[in-house]
Amino acid sequence: MRTLLRTESLTNEYGSTVAVSDVSMAVNEGDILGIMGPSGSGKSTLFRLLNLLESPSAGRIFFEGSEMSTSMPDVHMARRKMALVLQKPAAMNRSVFNNVAYGLQLRGATEEETEAKVNFYLEKLGLAPSRERNARSLSGGEMQRMCFARSVIVDPKLVLLDEFTANLDPKNIAILENAVRDFVKQDGRAAIIITHNPFQAKRLCNRAALMMEGGIVEEGETSRIFNDPRDERTRAFVSGEMVF
Ligand SMILES: Nc1ncnc2c1ncn2[C@@H]1O[C@H](COP(=O)(O)OP(=O)(O)O)[C@@H](O)[C@H]1O
Ligand SMILES: [Mg+2]
Repeated sequence: MRTLLRTESLTNEYGSTVAVSDVSMAVNEGDILGIMGPSGSGKSTLFRLLNLLESPSAGRIFFEGSEMSTSMPDVHMARRKMALVLQKPAAMNRSVFNNVAYGLQLRGATEEETEAKVNFYLEKLGLAPSRERNARSLSGGEMQRMCFARSVIVDPKLVLLDEFTANLDPKNIAILENAVRDFVKQDGRAAIIITHNPFQAKRLCNRAALMMEGGIVEEGETSRIFNDPRDERTRAFVSGEMVF
């Protein structure tokens, strides 16, 4: 299994707040890694660092073996290898089709290719009937499905999903989780999801990690993390004693 993403002692400080502390982690092709942890533990900051939206105070990030940083000359190309999907997405005031097509058009795809790919993803995410609707009229679940389609249509290698199904109903959650599974089945892909829901981590992730106070407390195969946690804090979390 090839390593897609690796970090070495990633740290990020805001004044006296250490948001991310000494995080060394690796994600292999085919992985869906679930990061769990209390609010304020640094999960979203870690995603911004991985997506090269912010530079870390210290530490390094490697993607497919090459070091990446916000100061590299082709940072935009590097960033395109990853797609970040947030809990509260924003949509352009245009049709669903146009929102999903946008990234392809930016990259100079032909009209035929754009049409075929957008239709494929709209179908997959159950949005074909909403193709011509204004994206801003979508329900929360439809909006999130559209954002997922918009992100994966440009073929990133890694998707970073930050509480992407929080507050959604089971039907929408199931569609999105299946879309993540399908994405990762393709060659050379992986996903990292931030979730507050241990059941989601169990359903979806082959690896799981607990993050607290900026650091990764424990990471491992999901079944091992839940059945045989080594750290007392992980045990408290998976047994439901640690509530957040
Ligand atoms: N831009 C910022 N400026 C200052 N502090 C920040 C900034 N972003 C995050 N933080 C702080 O870093 C810590 C981690 O935040 P965050 O990564 O959003 O956690 P999580 O996503 O796990 O809830 C928090 O204490 C938060 O207040
Ligand atoms: Mg967050």
